[in-house]
Amino acid sequence: MKISVIGAGNVGATCADEIARRELANEVILLDIKEGISEGKALDLWQTAPVNIYDTRVIGTTNDYSMTANSDVVIITSGLPRKPGMSRDDLISTNAGIVKAVTENVIKHSPDTIILMVANPLDVMSYCAFLTSKLPSNKVFGMAGILDTARFRAFLASEINCSPKDIQAMLLGGHGDTMVPLPRYTTVSGIPVTEFVDGERLTAIIDRTKKGGGEIVKLMGTSAWYAPAAGVAQMVEAIVRDQKRIFPVCSWLTGEYGLNEVYMGVPVVLGKGGIEKIIELKLNNDELELVKNSAGAVKEVMTIYDNMNK
Ligand code: LAC
Repeated sequence: MKISVIGAGNVGATCADEIARRELANEVILLDIKEGISEGKALDLWQTAPVNIYDTRVIGTTNDYSMTANSDVVIITSGLPRKPGMSRDDLISTNAGIVKAVTENVIKHSPDTIILMVANPLDVMSYCAFLTSKLPSNKVFGMAGILDTARFRAFLASEINCSPKDIQAMLLGGHGDTMVPLPRYTTVSGIPVTEFVDGERLTAIIDRTKKGGGEIVKLMGTSAWYAPAAGVAQMVEAIVRDQKRIFPVCSWLTGEYGLNEVYMGVPVVLGKGGIEKIIELKLNNDELELVKNSAGAVKEVMTIYDNMNK
């Protein structure tokens, strides 16, 4: 198994670390455009192997895509992160060009790979990689839902004062402030969350979840990396171990939820073929309205991308 991580910034390097620690591949290639960065980080990571007890080989390269040849999965983290006051959508003008060029290089050397998008604006960068790679849509998708539900679950665990392990949650929509956490599909060890948290507190926690990425950007001046990389590693594990796990994943919709030709978070079965099935939940009218609103917000940014490429 060979996995490549494009971009050796905080998110990319932490993805390589998580993947190596879990021994999800024999080889992890870490590629960055900045001279020496990925080689240095890869060497540093490889030197954790004797201490962290793994044998996944982490190798760095400055922009040599031939090193990524025949990757089973390629994770794209390239592009700029947010600065305080920016929305993820503000990154479109810088990151679209970067992600497009990266995808072209990736596909040249790994024509049958699975592309896992992490760069923002996530939904539209997944769309960009889908159009550019011409891969089938079950092989091009984005990581956001695991991160967003992890935030929701972590906040709920603090509120309820219970283990985060016992909280299960589902979330739909784009990776932006319009995302739709679903309390009706959220349980604490199978018990509806509403038995633990009253309506007002739940609304506050949902609101904090929606702005969860921005809360961290405000604190640090840049965006998060530990939880995003943990989310990526969980998806990679589901793929390489063919686990058939069910996660919210940013996927290309062709009619599901009444939505067509849009990338957005929905529950899927993830296994060795990538997205093996999209699961359609029976939403009530209020939930459906929120999901449609979120799809509309993504479509607006997709249109900006389309106009940039005319
Ligand atoms: C976040 C960024 C990575 O949500 O989108 O933290």
